[in-house]
Amino acid sequence: MTEQLDMTRAPPVLDIDPFAVENLRDPYPFYAALRDTAPVVFIPAHNMYAVGRYEETRTVMTDYARFTSEGGIGLSDIRKPGAWRTPSPITEVDPPRHTPIRGALTKVLSPIVIRRWREVFTEEAERQAEALPKNVDLDAVRDIVQPYVLKVFPDVLGIDMPREYFLPLGEMNFNQLGPNNDLTKRSVADSASILEKYATYFDRSSMIPGGLGEQIYAAEDRGDFAPGTGGVQVRTFLRAGVDTTISGIGWALYYLATNPDEWAKVKADPSLAKNAFEEAIRLSGPASCIFRTTVADMEFSGLHLKGDTKVGCFLGAASRDGRQFPEPDAFRVERESAGIHMALGAGAHICIGQNIARLEAECILSALVRRIDRIELTGTPAVHPINTLRTLETLPLRLVAH
Ligand code: HEM
Repeated sequence: MTEQLDMTRAPPVLDIDPFAVENLRDPYPFYAALRDTAPVVFIPAHNMYAVGRYEETRTVMTDYARFTSEGGIGLSDIRKPGAWRTPSPITEVDPPRHTPIRGALTKVLSPIVIRRWREVFTEEAERQAEALPKNVDLDAVRDIVQPYVLKVFPDVLGIDMPREYFLPLGEMNFNQLGPNNDLTKRSVADSASILEKYATYFDRSSMIPGGLGEQIYAAEDRGDFAPGTGGVQVRTFLRAGVDTTISGIGWALYYLATNPDEWAKVKADPSLAKNAFEEAIRLSGPASCIFRTTVADMEFSGLHLKGDTKVGCFLGAASRDGRQFPEPDAFRVERESAGIHMALGAGAHICIGQNIARLEAECILSALVRRIDRIELTGTPAVHPINTLRTLETLPLRLVAH
């Protein structure tokens, strides 16, 4: 028997479906089993490998020579017939082809652009925080987070799509990155009428003057992107930047409500709002699972992996790995984990919008913390089960202000 075929060293089977609704609602037992079982496991339900320990997750996310993004960052292999989603021209391309595309987008997101966005985010955060009812029961997802992100982000992107389309489309996109299960099928059916017109919102003629979309098209005209790909780049920003940020800010409010001592620290020093967001996405990473594909049979962490097989990187499991983070389950606003936790990915594809997400979060959290004495949970929060997005459906709370 050759080294490669020594199946005694195959990753052990973990017979859990991470995309079953009960595991999406509460993924932590699965994450613990994933980390405790082995550096890599095999999940038969989806014919995939999975990693959840910090070191292996980071390696699979970054080592594109062995773990390619070109098969897609979801479970379906976009290069094969039967794939149930269309590829992104930045996330699903490996270096060196990825490098100039990433460079062109980084140029579009220049510090001058971001400075102007800070003004837009601050103004809207202050306006909305001021208008929020105090000392009454509300749902923070519906009343605070969604109205804020759905106002500021499409505005700066310069997209004129009806705001009620964003959430069903986001749900569909993040379901489609997982298996073609009931969640995916239902969300595709729910978005069917929107999808008929979807592409037209990314046409050059639909871009609002002064927005990022317009600048992406200008970059295409300069030859920075392949002709005809500007619209798909704009769509990638929309797909990547709305639901993730809604999720992250929602979790930040959840952890601040359930950790009053940590809220008090942010209240005393609002500059800690940034860390609160970072801790929230470490503990409840919005992008819960990102895939790579093995390029060939290989040895990895002492185990033999087969080529051409999907590897699910469970970022939320890695960001709570006790091998990397002391007291991994504790929300500590003084912890400095930015750039270390895995919520924003790592390596060549690390989130290009990370500073925008941070800025959005910082503006709304600091606008709230300056007006509110404390936040109290008034009911049981509910998770919205979506295959690869960990987000809240409801967060009942009261903004207490005297
Ligand atoms: C808390 C909020 C966010 C989270 C948790 C998040 C998470 C991630 C992760 C994990 C990746 C890496 C994907 C991979 O390696 O395959 C990524 C990439 C990306 N993100 Fe974000 N993201 C967030 C916000 C945003 C925002 C606001 C934008 C747009 C302004 C954005 C745009 C992108 C793009 C375009 C990529 C692809 C980069 C590349 O492939 O080079 N993201 N994001």
